[in-house]
Amino acid sequence: MAQRASQPRQRLSSSQVSMDKLVSLCKRRGLVFPSSEIYGGLGSTWDYGPLGVELKKNIKDAWWRSLVQSRDDVVGIDAAILMHPQVWVASGHAEGFSDPMVECKECNRRWRVDEVIIHNMVSDSKCPECSAVDSFTEPRQFNLMFKTFVGPVEEGAAQVWLRPETAQGIFVNFSNVLNTTRKKLPFGVAQIGKAFRNEITPGNFIFRSREFEQMEMEFFVKPGTDDEWFRYWVEERYHWYKGLGIREENLRLRPHGDDELAHYARGCYDVEYLFPIGWSELEGIANRGNFDLSQHASYSGKDMSYFDEETSQRYTPYVIEPSAGVDRSALAFLVDAYDEESDPSPTSGQGKEEVRVVLRFHHDIAPVKVAVLPLSRKEPLADRARDIYAELRKHWVVQYDEAQSIGRRYRRQDEIGTPLCVTVDFQTLEDNAVTIRHRDDMGQIRVPVSGLADTLRHKLAGEDIMVLPPGGAVWKTGGE
Ligand code: GAP
Repeated sequence: MAQRASQPRQRLSSSQVSMDKLVSLCKRRGLVFPSSEIYGGLGSTWDYGPLGVELKKNIKDAWWRSLVQSRDDVVGIDAAILMHPQVWVASGHAEGFSDPMVECKECNRRWRVDEVIIHNMVSDSKCPECSAVDSFTEPRQFNLMFKTFVGPVEEGAAQVWLRPETAQGIFVNFSNVLNTTRKKLPFGVAQIGKAFRNEITPGNFIFRSREFEQMEMEFFVKPGTDDEWFRYWVEERYHWYKGLGIREENLRLRPHGDDELAHYARGCYDVEYLFPIGWSELEGIANRGNFDLSQHASYSGKDMSYFDEETSQRYTPYVIEPSAGVDRSALAFLVDAYDEESDPSPTSGQGKEEVRVVLRFHHDIAPVKVAVLPLSRKEPLADRARDIYAELRKHWVVQYDEAQSIGRRYRRQDEIGTPLCVTVDFQTLEDNAVTIRHRDDMGQIRVPVSGLADTLRHKLAGEDIMVLPPGGAVWKTGGE
């Protein structure tokens, strides 16, 4: 009973999305703001606004549902950001977590060595900023960990680090989790939290920043079964993004070459996404072997082994680690969802062609699920609409909007990716029915207010619904 469905059309490809337009949309609509903006901002740090925080929460919830809630072999923890400094000695980060960096003597811009090579494709002698040739300093190692101090006076206080990955909080709690949950191998421990890296060249909006969130899971397995589990998690993680609507043509898996592997890894695959800056890492899935547990056992003097009751053997488990960034995922979901089309129902009324900007988010990811739009802001219509709004808010994040024309309000909701709008019109007062308008095809159906939440739930789940007119009456459909 959809009133209108627009013709299928080619969507904007992710590489055509303008990062500038996306950044400006994010700021205008309260998704992402530059941090400390009133003081001129702090380079490459970002604050999430009212809609951005919902977007991130939806990504984290979807990850937690998939990796923890729906499985009986993974549990969660939430470890502290500040950890004993020996953790980073044992993990190898104090020594090895660094990037070689060069500085151009002409323009003083600093670069990671690999960036210069990527820019120049073959040579590493030309500055990508000012084009000066052979003007780089010798590469220097630059540790990416942020230092801070615990205690009131800096000199006497212990120096600690802000964690550069959440993973170590899991490794140091391996025995605690094992003893308290009585889990048997294979099992995983998951964590979502902030990580900090003093990146030399942060940038590309929220793609690379100095403060970001990670979603990491350490899956402990019996040595010898690690290859199989490694393949399993690579597949799982790839399909997680697909299941949340990321287009297949924008996703690929790339194995790391031996020269790229992190100091702890036996093997690694990146899930890559076709960002507007090109194919880049979205998530890494690594086989870390028993590197971390063995290192912590040796540095702490504590036993980190596992007794296998089936084989009566004691060994140090291997670990498979899917490690994703919340912010980088948010960027991928935003880019993938971003679409522009010429507006079939321009609101200007001047016949001038307008552009309809739509974020075609998967319903699980969309920051706002439903908007309630009364055709008039006067009573008794507004009162009725507010009652419906109050009811729906028990189930989802819902917006109420009564300002300007209905066309403009639909566009505002399209721009933030709200999948469904509920329009309350004058006939609602007589027939107790409302119009649901769908973001993607702009089709509309008229449905009774009773059971509206159920109807919306079906629509959000992408199920086709048949709405039967009460008493066989001709059922009116609304118009945009
Ligand atoms: N524990 C393994 C680990 O941390 P990583 O490849 O360095 O591995 C994992 O980081 C993920 O964290 C990346 O795939 C990316 O999504 C995210 N990430 C890493 N550095 C980031 C940064 N500076 N800004 C935003 N996200 C970052």
